[in-house]
Amino acid sequence: MFSYEILKKHLKSKKINYKINYIDSIESTNQYAWKLIQKNIEIPSIIITKNQTDGKGQRDNKWFSSINKSLTFSIVINQNKKYEKLLSLKVAISIIEGIKKNTDIDCKLKWPNDIMINNKKIGGILIEKKRDKIVIGIGINVNESLKDINPIVKNKSTSLKIINNLSIKLEMLLADILNEFELYYYQLNNKSIIKKWEKYCCHINENIKFYGNDKTLNGKFLGVKDNGNAIININGKKYTVNSGIINL
Ligand code: BTN
Repeated sequence: MFSYEILKKHLKSKKINYKINYIDSIESTNQYAWKLIQKNIEIPSIIITKNQTDGKGQRDNKWFSSINKSLTFSIVINQNKKYEKLLSLKVAISIIEGIKKNTDIDCKLKWPNDIMINNKKIGGILIEKKRDKIVIGIGINVNESLKDINPIVKNKSTSLKIINNLSIKLEMLLADILNEFELYYYQLNNKSIIKKWEKYCCHINENIKFYGNDKTLNGKFLGVKDNGNAIININGKKYTVNSGIINL
């Protein structure tokens, strides 16, 4: 069972005063967030469930969660041009540092925004924007054993528990991610956000395979630009790309 008390006790955010919406079971917290936005939900809000049954991933993929074991939530905020630059990088860094507060695991980032350990995915971010609202969906594999990981993604996914055999309180992890997010959201120094993202990137200055526009390109990943696009060196020439899949 999800405990408000544990979450409230550890939530230190001062500027962002979230309304917490907990639902036992829901198809997708992102989808539900948009329904609540239509009903004039309080903003900022968190929508969290212990059982997401039809999670949405990037590029129309599915996102699989395990009941009571995965951290599955969405943050609803108003658009704010001043702070939402590099939003996805800020969210990704907050997740890495929130996890670090709860474990000794150093997670890494794969462009554009996969949370990785040992080249396997443990978490993902789906940011959706409509009119003046933003929904930031976050899914993290936390207390799953190998048997809990969906067979479709088994060979490319893992969980924090599979790595270190320890269980984590989901409320504590959520609180720490939100605490970090408050710090990074208001950070206006884009260079320092990019530097931090690149520090956590697991393929910086490495040769990668890049899939985009039905083509596969081989190149060296050089970093991210101040709009979050990737910079890739292909045959000595620098290209910037805004979407695609990187294979390590
Ligand atoms: C990805 O494909 O890497 C993004 C995964 C995002 C999953 C989260 S889980 C909470 C929120 N609700 C959804 O339906 N998706 C996001």
